[in-house]
Amino acid sequence: MLLNALAAGALLAQSASAQNMLRFACSQLTVERADPLVNPGQAPSPHTHQIIGGNSFNLTMQPEAYDLAAKSTCTTCTYSEDFSNYWTAALYFKSPENGTFQRVPQFANVGLQQDGGMTVYYMPYSAKNGKMTAFKPGFRMLSGDPMAKKASKASICHRCLGNGEGFAPCDSKDSAELPTKFCPNGIRATIIFPSCWDGKNLDSPDHKSHVAYSNSGGLGTPNCPSTHPVAIPQVMYEIMWDTGKYKNTAWYGNGKQPFVYSFGDAVGYGQHGDYLFGWKGDALQKAMDALPSGKCANANCSVLKIQSAKDSMACKKSQMVVEDVGAAGKWIKTLPGDVQIMN
Ligand SMILES: *[C@@H]1O[C@H](CO)[C@@H](O)[C@H](O)[C@H]1NC(C)=O
Ligand SMILES: *[C@@H]1O[C@H](CO)[C@@H](O)[C@H](O)[C@H]1NC(C)=O
Ligand SMILES: *[C@@H]1O[C@H](CO)[C@@H](O)[C@H](O)[C@H]1NC(C)=O
Repeated sequence: MLLNALAAGALLAQSASAQNMLRFACSQLTVERADPLVNPGQAPSPHTHQIIGGNSFNLTMQPEAYDLAAKSTCTTCTYSEDFSNYWTAALYFKSPENGTFQRVPQFANVGLQQDGGMTVYYMPYSAKNGKMTAFKPGFRMLSGDPMAKKASKASICHRCLGNGEGFAPCDSKDSAELPTKFCPNGIRATIIFPSCWDGKNLDSPDHKSHVAYSNSGGLGTPNCPSTHPVAIPQVMYEIMWDTGKYKNTAWYGNGKQPFVYSFGDAVGYGQHGDYLFGWKGDALQKAMDALPSGKCANANCSVLKIQSAKDSMACKKSQMVVEDVGAAGKWIKTLPGDVQIMN
């Protein structure tokens, strides 16, 4: 497994210059209709999210005033000083036979050990002379758009696993859409965040304008635009959806597939990710500064504190919005919030 993990990291790095990055597991913290970025204070928020990171995750998390590192007592991430919260929409299987729903479980990425959750990356593709500016307390951002009606494949994409892995994220093996064939080894969803910052704002009204891609999206380059000149770590999420048991071939093909995101998107263009920075002190800056030295890579960064997989899996938060969001293997009659399928 270790060899596989190294190979995955190395192949990913080929897509830009071969540089070290962080790549680590965060187990599931909670699954619920909460969204402190886009719908602060709203209980329930419109659709179900799957959430990882520090257990101070809350319905309202005021920028700066709400100190994630101070308020959390545990995190689901490998790096025990990372109390950030990361979340995306959950994915559901809709039975083509009877229209009931089941939430699709998430599994661990190659070489990692976790209970649900995601793989998180901090990548140095926009660094200049090896330098990046880590996020400041209160920083947050959004990638993707739940209302998207067309593909933005450079940054939001899906891979049908089992076709020979080891390619750069969102490359020609991936599709903007949810795959329309059966994926026995799962579907990997990728969300790539921007790698350049305006240097001033912790947030913006659309949660996007304070950051920018160095190109048209996807993995960054060292050429941040003059409007957003500050190179920041490029955050990326990978979610491994366990689609292997949904194997009736009649459910796939001719543009058909049986999965739908929690906000009603059965195509996949609208998948989106939310990020609330919450590393303790200057831990993330130290890690980014150590990447070029080789002492810090993937899930084994020697300048950071590492917790066992067991401890990261033990960190859980019970739902604040208590409802059945479709526990693994259980059926629900509608998407939580009675969300309707829009395409
Ligand atoms: C979450 O928010 C509630 C309501 O504002 C508050 O009572 C609670 O202390 C918060 N949780 C943490 C960990 O701060
Ligand atoms: C609905 O269909 C699924 C298969 O698509 C099946 O596993 C499930 O048992 C069915 N539920 C009911 C209530 O018939
Ligand atoms: C992590 O790095 C240390 C020090 O470089 C090394 O001894 C150890 O084998 C590495 N562990 C993994 C899992 O790569």
